[in-house]
Amino acid sequence: MKTGRNKPCPCGSGKKYKKCCARKKKVQLNVNLNKKYADSYNILIKTREEIEGMRRTGLLVIETLDLVEAKIKAGMTTDEINTIVHEFTIENGAIAACLNYRGFPKSVCVSVNEVICHGIPGDRVLKDGDIVNVDVTSILNSYYADANKTFFIGKPDANARKIVSVTRECLNVGMAQVKPGNKIGDIGWAIQQYAENHGCSVVREFVGHGIGLEFHEQPQVPHFGRKGEGVPLVPGMVFTIEPMINLGERHLKILRDNWTAVTRDKSLSAQFEQTVLVTETGCESLTPYNI
Ligand code: MF3
Ligand code: CO
Ligand code: CO
Repeated sequence: MKTGRNKPCPCGSGKKYKKCCARKKKVQLNVNLNKKYADSYNILIKTREEIEGMRRTGLLVIETLDLVEAKIKAGMTTDEINTIVHEFTIENGAIAACLNYRGFPKSVCVSVNEVICHGIPGDRVLKDGDIVNVDVTSILNSYYADANKTFFIGKPDANARKIVSVTRECLNVGMAQVKPGNKIGDIGWAIQQYAENHGCSVVREFVGHGIGLEFHEQPQVPHFGRKGEGVPLVPGMVFTIEPMINLGERHLKILRDNWTAVTRDKSLSAQFEQTVLVTETGCESLTPYNI
């Protein structure tokens, strides 16, 4: 790996290379960086092989979301979405990571309107004007990838259009912060700024997460916070960014099923999620779709 003198130092210090390891007799090797991240933060920097595996899983996740997008319509139950996702996942030799995860009873999360996340597929019938988040996590060859989108059913009203477009842009501005030398906190800072400047609020109780060999790894990736806080981003880190944005207040409650998170004020909530890799120069989505 060739490091430019003005590029962030590969040791993860956050300083420019010329002001860091370039001046030392011995340039710190990547293996030291991996060990430092494992020891200090419990973060697993991914190998080339692991990244390739996650890329394959990511493509399957995106294909699954595309299939849902093609089929989702008014009159369908959320359980029918579950069946589509489950069968497609199995047909492709993968496993639905949600099924039985900490007791979750279905293969995908389907969250309608005021449901923020972790909606359990069931008898709820989708109707014209609903917004529906479908969150797919698959395991292929033991590598995880996680992504979600919020879909419109029929014709969205102005509120639905607003919360979905603000949330979509929140993922965009969050991903734009992903590059070596930036910090984890920069992502949440950018998202919170955008959401609040547009009169929306950021859910605090659920955050993005490291992913790859497990569903939820370190680090946690908050969608709020201060610039310059948290762990420096270094090449080979893989994590999700998955802002949950409310049209009203940020507060939530969890329903009696112990999973479904809904807005306390019953306002609309949307979410978009991708799994991203920190590269030498910036960000590569392992679950790429246009935002
Ligand atoms: N896919 C969700 C996430 O983005 C987690 C769902 S956990 C489940 O992290 F158990 F509800 F499926
Ligand atoms: Co997810
Ligand atoms: Co996730």
